[in-house]
Amino acid sequence: GYDARPYLPRRGGLEAHRRAAASCRGCPLFAEATATVFGRGDPGARFLVVGEQPGDQEDRKGQAFVGPAGRLLSKALSEAGIDEEDVYLTNAVKHFKFTPSGPGKRRIHKAPSLREMTACRPWLEAELRLVDPSVVVVLGATAGKAVLGSGFRVGADRGAVLSLPGRDGGPHVVATLHPSAVLRADDRESAYAGLVADLRVAADAL
Ligand code: URA
Ligand code: SF4
Repeated sequence: GYDARPYLPRRGGLEAHRRAAASCRGCPLFAEATATVFGRGDPGARFLVVGEQPGDQEDRKGQAFVGPAGRLLSKALSEAGIDEEDVYLTNAVKHFKFTPSGPGKRRIHKAPSLREMTACRPWLEAELRLVDPSVVVVLGATAGKAVLGSGFRVGADRGAVLSLPGRDGGPHVVATLHPSAVLRADDRESAYAGLVADLRVAADAL
């Protein structure tokens, strides 16, 4: 089955994991994507933010959250009083999944399957262990299911202080909308206000 575990280093910190993830072949997504997009940010950050998967620009640049969703997230974090220097940014799935389009066209994002999410989870688990944040922020349904389990529902679970399943003494977890969902929303202003409000809950959970 699909599984990233054979590619994880047996020891080492985030840098060792980032290097190893660059050649992960734990599921078929590595084949079409340009690069593994591992997390980025201060390994000592108190906040760890989990998105879904890299987008088109993240795939081209090899860096998490450097496209439109990342810019919106950055603005929302700062409005919520969270210093980006105190944030480690990563994704539930480390390769971009997309529908190929014609030459020069923007590639269209596709949601990762449960098998791909499960295969990739050991990388996220390693980041959670190595960064050891005080607060984990999950953006949207894919990240929510990866961190909180398959019963996660954004509508019901967002904006509250939760904990990791089976880890009561562990980090606080706060779920919110994915910034891409804010960008697509009919009422973008109220969706954005909701994102900022949930991030304030995360800021106050410290
Ligand atoms: N959306 C995500 O979930 N992650 C990124 O890195 C970029 C866009
Ligand atoms: Fe490995 Fe994750 Fe990429 Fe699949 S998506 S190849 S599990 S890094």
